[in-house]
Amino acid sequence: MKRYEQFADEIATLIRQGVLAPGERIPSVRQASRHYGISPSTVFQAYYLLENQGLIRARARSGYFVREHARRLMDEPGVSIQPADPAEVEVSELVFSVLDSLQDASTVPFGSAFPSPELFPLSRLASSMARGLRELSPREVIADMTTGHPDLRRQIALRYMLGGIQLPMDELVITNGAMEALNLGLQCVTRPGDLVAIEAPAFYASLQVLERLELKAVEIPVHPREGIDLDILEARLAKLPIKACWFMSHLQNPLGASLSEERKADLYGLLKRYRVPMLEDDVYAELYFGSTPPTPVKWFDDEGLVMHCGSFSKCLAPGYRVGWVAGGRYAPALSRLKLMTTISPSIPAQAAIADYLQHGGYDRHLRKLRHALEAQQAAMLAAADRHFPAGTRLTRPGGGYFLWVEFPERVDSLRLFRMALDQGVSLAPGPIFSATQGFRHCARLSHGHPWTARSERAMETLGQLLASF
Ligand SMILES: Cc1ncc(COP(=O)(O)O)c(C=O)c1O
Repeated sequence: MKRYEQFADEIATLIRQGVLAPGERIPSVRQASRHYGISPSTVFQAYYLLENQGLIRARARSGYFVREHARRLMDEPGVSIQPADPAEVEVSELVFSVLDSLQDASTVPFGSAFPSPELFPLSRLASSMARGLRELSPREVIADMTTGHPDLRRQIALRYMLGGIQLPMDELVITNGAMEALNLGLQCVTRPGDLVAIEAPAFYASLQVLERLELKAVEIPVHPREGIDLDILEARLAKLPIKACWFMSHLQNPLGASLSEERKADLYGLLKRYRVPMLEDDVYAELYFGSTPPTPVKWFDDEGLVMHCGSFSKCLAPGYRVGWVAGGRYAPALSRLKLMTTISPSIPAQAAIADYLQHGGYDRHLRKLRHALEAQQAAMLAAADRHFPAGTRLTRPGGGYFLWVEFPERVDSLRLFRMALDQGVSLAPGPIFSATQGFRHCARLSHGHPWTARSERAMETLGQLLASF
């Protein structure tokens, strides 16, 4: 354990024991540095880690405080899957049947993959759409199709720059959501039958992409807090001809895990050593709860091996279908592949987002959104504590809007899913996140919608159903 990890552990213990109570201020960086005889940067690193672990939060100009639900009764889950042999993927039927049943607008949407539309500045975006279109010259509508709207590309490149990444605009390919970016990226570097390293559990659509492209999955276990198991990844890279990795280094879906900076650097070291490209799915990049934006693996990418895929679907404009890929050395190939498939995302949608990024107050909206998601997370964690059976384990991610729940082994989450739907509550059952249909006693719950008495009752219903197993 490094010194900052040790120090973070000491503070975490004080929080769990209740010595540092919810809402209480923890020692300032200066006080802690003096008192514990460690450098301010070590304290900063420790506080950053604790923020990521969802235990503390920074308040502007006031210091760091213990989060309200930090001292909870329920434990966090650990790794619950063993590495398996490369597998062909067949999940689509199960995924489609689950997704179909989530369509009913009258259910409490704990199974949904999107936050509530109420949390997005839709009318402000509509004004941006009108202005963006007024300012679009007829020539541009056609000319910008291949490269993407230049203002949007500039705005995205600017955001990379603020995050410390100097990105040539040529590297950016605008796509129909991150999903297209990820699909094209994988098509660029694989052929049917190739092996692709993915996370276990993984975002179900990544499994469907592998299935569609006839690729085999090499599942790498993910720890809900630490992220992907780098030792297992290295052993697999050394032994198997893996052609690509598809990972989320930050707020992994469904676990919410984020890799530390050091582990991101180590992961990039592995990519370089084994000359393997990586699709970095970073659609939740803006939804961190802490005070510091996380840096992606792309930050370390001095050889262009990382295709960093982002999107506005989860943080600004659901339904606009605008995403992008910073494609590194693969950018020209990605651009051609996009031309050969969908040509271009809608120019009006790109113009609207470009205008919004420039004039709409994006950062203010993001601050509000993060705040809402964090409060909703606290409400869901507290409700789970009240209603779920002993032995349930829950993640506590430092951002996003998903909780991963590991129920006692006797619970079958597919059966629970059907029982809950009958009672008007949805959830995302564990097996849809696995190439090998693992995680039977797990589920993903979304707190992406404003918390109401109905949400509380839905948690109570889930608790009653769980008691019947
Ligand atoms: C992890 C992850 N990656 C990619 C996507 C797709 O993003 P987009 O809507 O931009 O295509 C999603 C959406 O659910 C997601 O959760």
